[in-house]
Amino acid sequence: MQEKLTFAIVGTGSRGVLCFGELLKKRSDCTIKALCDRNAIRAKIAAGKLGSPAIYTDLELLLKEAKPDAVIITTPDASHEECAVKALKHKVNILIDKPLATTVKGCRNIIREAEKSGKVAMMGFNLRHAPLLMKLKEIVETGVLGRIFLVENREFYSNGRTYMARWNGRKSSSGGLWIHKGSHDFDVFNWLFGFPKPCKVAAFAGMNVFIPDGFPFPLEKDIRPGPCCSECHYAENGLCKDAYPHTEEEWSGEARKLDGYVKDSCIYLSDRSVHDNGFAIVEYENGVRACHMECFVTGMSDRFYTVVGTLGQASLSLAGCTLTVLKRWSNEKIVYEIPEPRGGHAGADPGLLESFIRAIRGTEPNTATFDQGMLSTAIGEAAELSRAENRVVFLKELLDPGEAPQKGDSAAIKRYFNATVGE
Ligand SMILES: NC(=O)c1ccc[n+]([C@@H]2O[C@H](COP(=O)([O-])OP(=O)(O)OC[C@H]3O[C@@H](n4cnc5c(N)ncnc54)[C@H](O)[C@@H]3O)[C@@H](O)[C@H]2O)c1
Repeated sequence: MQEKLTFAIVGTGSRGVLCFGELLKKRSDCTIKALCDRNAIRAKIAAGKLGSPAIYTDLELLLKEAKPDAVIITTPDASHEECAVKALKHKVNILIDKPLATTVKGCRNIIREAEKSGKVAMMGFNLRHAPLLMKLKEIVETGVLGRIFLVENREFYSNGRTYMARWNGRKSSSGGLWIHKGSHDFDVFNWLFGFPKPCKVAAFAGMNVFIPDGFPFPLEKDIRPGPCCSECHYAENGLCKDAYPHTEEEWSGEARKLDGYVKDSCIYLSDRSVHDNGFAIVEYENGVRACHMECFVTGMSDRFYTVVGTLGQASLSLAGCTLTVLKRWSNEKIVYEIPEPRGGHAGADPGLLESFIRAIRGTEPNTATFDQGMLSTAIGEAAELSRAENRVVFLKELLDPGEAPQKGDSAAIKRYFNATVGE
C-alpha cells in the first residue's frame, strides 16, 4: 500500500475548496492535513466541508507544525509570490494555480526559490489537461496540419462579469485580466506549439459595458443600485439580470466583516481597473501568430480554437466533444470525437491534480514548470503594457531587463536571456 500524501491548501475560497479540496477529499491516496486562509472564519467553514483538517491563518506556522508533503496555493494572484516563497523555503512540493505571479519579477523570485528547494514545483495550468486540447496538441504534433502559422482562440465567459465584483477586477490584486485570465490561454498557445519564443505582443481592450452609465434597466427615482448584489434593491427584485449575490456564510456576515472582502460588489459601480473585452495578439520567433479574444459580456461560456497550418486547419469548441480537421486542397473533413469530459474546466481539473501527484511520486515528469508559468505571465504583462501605452511590446523588455543572469537563476531563466525559450 502506498503511503498517503499529505496536503495543505492555502486560500480556502472557491478554487481551494470547490476544486482542489473536493478532488483531494475523494482520493484514498491523499489527505488534507491543513488549511490556511487569512480569514479564520472562512478557513473554519472550509475545514467543516473537507474532513476537519487543522486550520491556520499563518502560513509560516502551518509549515512548521503541519509539515505537509505538498502545498497548493489558491490565494488571489498578487499574493502567490509571498505564499510561494514561504512554502518553498520549507522545501515542500508545490502547485500554484495560474498565474505564477502577477509580474515577471515576481515569477523570477519564485523560480529562484523553487530551484533551491529541489522539490516538485508545478503550475496549475489545468487547460492542458482538457481532453479536447490534448487531442488538438496530438494532431498538431503528428504534422497532419503541416507547418502551423496561425492560431485563434475566442473566449466567451459569462462568469467573467463577476471579475468586476471582486479582487480579480483590480490590477493590484490580479495583475489585470490579460494576466489573471489570459495567462491560461497564452500558456495553451505556448504549450500547443512546443514553447516557441514569443517576440511581440499587441493588445486592444477596454471596458465598454460594465460602466456606471451601463445599467441595462431603468433606475427608480431615489433608489441607488449596489453597493453589492446581496444588498441591492434591483438584485432582490430580479431587475438586474447580472446579479450574483453571495449570501453563503463564508462570503457574508461575520466572515465578510473580518477582512472586508466583498465578493459581490456591483459590477457596474465597483472600483476596478481591468477590461470587459479585448484582443491580444502574440507573434513568435518562428512566425506563428496567435490571437486571444476574451469577452465577459455574454450569456455563455466557451473557448473556440482554430489552428491553421500549411496543410489544413483544425477547430474545436471546448464546451463540445468534437474536433474537426479540414484538409487544405481536398477539403476532406475528419471529425474526432471524445467522450463527454468529467470534472471542472472541460474535464481538466482532475487531470491537473493527478499529474501533480504523479510528479511528487516520481512516476511522471513535471510537465508544467514555473519557467513556463513565467512565460505566460510575461505575455500577459506585455499585453497589459500594450493596452496601457498604446504600443507593440517586445517581450525582450520584460524577459531581459538589462540584468545579467544571476547566481541562483534557473537554467530556464538563463535561456530567456539567450535566444531560445522552452524545453
Ligand atoms: N485554473 C483555473 O481554472 C482557475 C479558476 C479560478 C481561479 N483560479 C486561480 O485560483 C486562485 C484563487 O481564486 P479564487 O477564485 O478561488 O479566489 P477566492 O477569492 O474565492 O478565494 C481566495 C481565498 O484566499 C484567501 N486569501 C487571500 N490572501 C491570502 C493570503 N495571503 N494567505 C492566505 N489566504 C489568503 C481569501 O481570504 C480567500 O478565502 C487565483 O490565483 C485564481 O487566479 C484558477
